[in-house]
Amino acid sequence: MRVAMIGTGYVGLVSGACFSEFGTDVVCVDKDVEKIARLEDGIMPIYEPGLDVLVENNVKAGRLTFTTDLKEGVKDADAVFIAVGTPTRRGDGHADLSYVYAAAEEIAEAMDGFTVIVTKSTVPVGTGREVERIIREKRPDAEFAVVSNPEFLREGSAIGDFMRPDRVVIGTSDERAREVMSDLYRPLYLIETPIVFTTRETSEMIKYAANTFLAAKITFINEIADLCEKVGADVHDVARGIGLDGRIGKKFLHPGPGYGGSCFPKDTIALVRTAQEYNSPLRIIETVVDVNAKRKKAMADRVIAACGGSVAGKTIGILGLAFKPNTDDMRDAPSLDIVPALIAAGASVKAYDPEAMEEAKKLLDGISYCDNAYDTVEGADAMVVLTEWNEFRGMDLDRIKDALKHPIVVDLRNVYDPNEMAENGFSYSCVGRASIGGKS
Ligand code: UDX
Repeated sequence: MRVAMIGTGYVGLVSGACFSEFGTDVVCVDKDVEKIARLEDGIMPIYEPGLDVLVENNVKAGRLTFTTDLKEGVKDADAVFIAVGTPTRRGDGHADLSYVYAAAEEIAEAMDGFTVIVTKSTVPVGTGREVERIIREKRPDAEFAVVSNPEFLREGSAIGDFMRPDRVVIGTSDERAREVMSDLYRPLYLIETPIVFTTRETSEMIKYAANTFLAAKITFINEIADLCEKVGADVHDVARGIGLDGRIGKKFLHPGPGYGGSCFPKDTIALVRTAQEYNSPLRIIETVVDVNAKRKKAMADRVIAACGGSVAGKTIGILGLAFKPNTDDMRDAPSLDIVPALIAAGASVKAYDPEAMEEAKKLLDGISYCDNAYDTVEGADAMVVLTEWNEFRGMDLDRIKDALKHPIVVDLRNVYDPNEMAENGFSYSCVGRASIGGKS
């Protein structure tokens, strides 16, 4: 079995490397010459734990190669995966499918013999049908099938999520395509991973419904957290108390500054637009989008309140910039709203992130980047935890207190224990639990 993976981003590179780990021959294709050259030198374009070793092992085994030549990559492939970006289209919020359609055109020209074209990128319902039309128009004679196979991996745990998924979803009505996909995912079949075979449109909808539901679940617990602060409840105990109900589930009930990343923000907006277009609006998700955007902006106000109502002339030490830990991805990270708002309010900002600083420097200027967490809080008027990297969890509280001008900590990820912070004399504010000293 030979697979061509078009696109070497978070989804394409991880999926390609994991398929090759299964023993499949994979060629990863990208237009970006520099990216392909670096991959061939074993340099990863993204930070994803374990990816460098996985790529290195499979390149050494001769199962994983990289090329900029799509024609070369596609011609002997049994399955060609489209794993290119589908960012939010400027202006109307729809998914920008130009990269998907461009790939489809090129694949049409290059394919030889029966070929399964697989959309792995998150694409609106009906995209598979359009990809099929594009290819059929170019190659009326060709034998092919277009299949939907959305990815559910999370950044920071992408390899584990691919190797041990909760399920594989495959949308096709072509028997031959079904066999090719079954062969491809056989290693997962052997560990009894449920494989959901359905139609293409249903498969496309499953992906959007999953992401928008998860975004709604996070937004739900974020709003419950705000109410908990007002009524004196502890949101973590609420999350535990409701999460033990099998119908609710324990995961994705951690309150924070709002969701970010390359998926939830764009997928919620894209599905809302599709629903509006079909005159079947998703009013809950419309609210989720609005509430989440406002929440990120409101977080800066929490920091200002914790500093006595003004940060003018003050220095704020920010720990964590990436949208979540174990990634360097800054897309729609809460820091992109919070840091500029603090600067606009007159603060000077120092910041540190274990992996995302290079990415952050492209997006956030006017701040001083530090080499480690303690340097970040040295001389600062307050410390803010924005991303829950493990290294922030076990920091020496005495050292933090000595470094800070004032013992003010705003913990937007609840990585610290309020009682311990109180015992150590901090003015501690957090999310969804009683704050100590300062206002929450
Ligand atoms: C998400 C989906 O989980 C994944 O299935 C899909 O394939 C891609 O989009 P990802 O965006 O990588 O994955 O990260 P995820 O772990 O889902 O977190 C998304 C955002 O939600 C982050 O900003 C995170 O901080 C936030 N989040 C997540 C919370 O605020 N609380 C939670 O309990 C979980």
